[in-house]
Amino acid sequence: MKVIDTVARMMTFSRMVRKEGKTIGLVPTMGYLHEGHLSLVKAAKISNDIVVMSIFVNPIQFGPKEDYNNYPRDLGRDEELARSAGVDVTFYPSAKDIYPEGYATYVNVEGLAKGLCGKSRPGHFRGVTTVVAKLFGIVKPDAAYFGQKDAQQAAVIKKMAEDLNMDIDIRVLPTVREADGLAKSSRNKYLSGAGRRDAAILYQSLLRAQSLIKEGEKDPNKVIKTIKAMIKTKGSSRIDYVSIVDPGNLKDVATIKGPVLVALAVFIGKTRLIDNVVVNALSP
Ligand code: PAJ
Repeated sequence: MKVIDTVARMMTFSRMVRKEGKTIGLVPTMGYLHEGHLSLVKAAKISNDIVVMSIFVNPIQFGPKEDYNNYPRDLGRDEELARSAGVDVTFYPSAKDIYPEGYATYVNVEGLAKGLCGKSRPGHFRGVTTVVAKLFGIVKPDAAYFGQKDAQQAAVIKKMAEDLNMDIDIRVLPTVREADGLAKSSRNKYLSGAGRRDAAILYQSLLRAQSLIKEGEKDPNKVIKTIKAMIKTKGSSRIDYVSIVDPGNLKDVATIKGPVLVALAVFIGKTRLIDNVVVNALSP
């Protein structure tokens, strides 16, 4: 496995690979790898000649009071995991190389980036789309791989790629979970003891919502109420949002019909966790 740590060298490498007629699959990450990230690598390996994983904790997608400085980092461990998963190139640029003095261009997807996490994390998706657009320009992938765990992020990136004619296949892979259902996340490292046990309520409440919808519940407010009540039984929890939206436009639905995205963000202690399920409602 090659480790490339400058933008210039990554661009040269990708140019060469493409000249040889080989395809590139990109897995963008912020590191501190877990099986969720590695499932994306596995998918990328199936359909591409070369798999590039970027590891970059992107400063501009964190708010001023968020965890940019404390975000878990362990390059040595990440390299080991990436190598054993079969990554061909780890791209590990510095923040200065990505955002040099005088950097001035940002990508903003309107509409989709507004609701859900966009409400409590203003500027977050602008940071995500900007860095992903730059990674696309640098790595020049044929396909890029994202997780359904960050459903809004995946939707926003798909829209960006479509609107800006990026000609990159955006693939979205299922959420990988711990044994108790908690979605794998680098931020789970912040959880311990009671908080870690309480965190399982997120997925449990989503499963309950799924059953209610499958049994024919059409009123989103009733389902949301049930989820909130379940989460509130855990002392360490504080709800940011629980929403039921159309998976296409991410707007709240008035009635549950067809597929819906049930999405939530909850603080467990100081750690903000997100999760979601897509549920296909019974036809009336
Ligand atoms: P990060 O949180 O490191 O996640 C990198 C990719 O892994 C994202 O596409 C995310 O959706 C996916 N992922 C995370 N947990 C997952 C899980 N449990 N199951 C499946 N996939 C999972 O998301 C980011 O980084 C950044 O915002 C990034 C896109 C790299 C831009 O900076």
